[in-house]
Amino acid sequence: MRRPRALPSLALAGLATAAFAGCGDTIDVARTDPPQIQRGAQLFADRCSGCHTLDAAGARGSKPLRGPTDAGERTNGPNFDQRSETVDAVLYAIRNGGYSGAIMPANIVVGRDTEAVAAFVAKYAGRKK
Ligand code: HEC
Repeated sequence: MRRPRALPSLALAGLATAAFAGCGDTIDVARTDPPQIQRGAQLFADRCSGCHTLDAAGARGSKPLRGPTDAGERTNGPNFDQRSETVDAVLYAIRNGGYSGAIMPANIVVGRDTEAVAAFVAKYAGRKK
């Protein structure tokens, strides 16, 4: 379903079309999910998957530690297959750059994109605890 947007973005429209057409990407959300969630999944795959794991977005960025002395990679973000998140927690993390503000860049997505990513993560995180 297409609705007129206050600030149409050609780039995002292209991405959304690709996601709906299923052009070989690995995003795996329900076909019945609202467009906001579909878009959130695509945004997560594009902007967050380097550092976070979340199966529904095909994201594998969280690296498992190789042993007790392995401090992990600096960009190693929490694995969202194993950790549930609320919409508010994701909004906070996006606006502030994670909880520590040290590693994750703030405002990787802004405006409505922020809400779309938060809705997607809140729905799909924590499904493999
Ligand atoms: C450069 C790597 C990097 C990118 C890109 C990144 N993150 Fe993070 N993120 C981290 C790290 C590392 C942490 C843990 C440290 C912290 O909270 O500051 C984190 C923490 C979080 C948390 C808090 C999780 C918790 O329960 O403690 C959320 C939510 C989150 N990220 C969501 C996102 C979303 C959504 C995106 C994309 C818009 C994103 N991150 C992009 C590295 C990244």
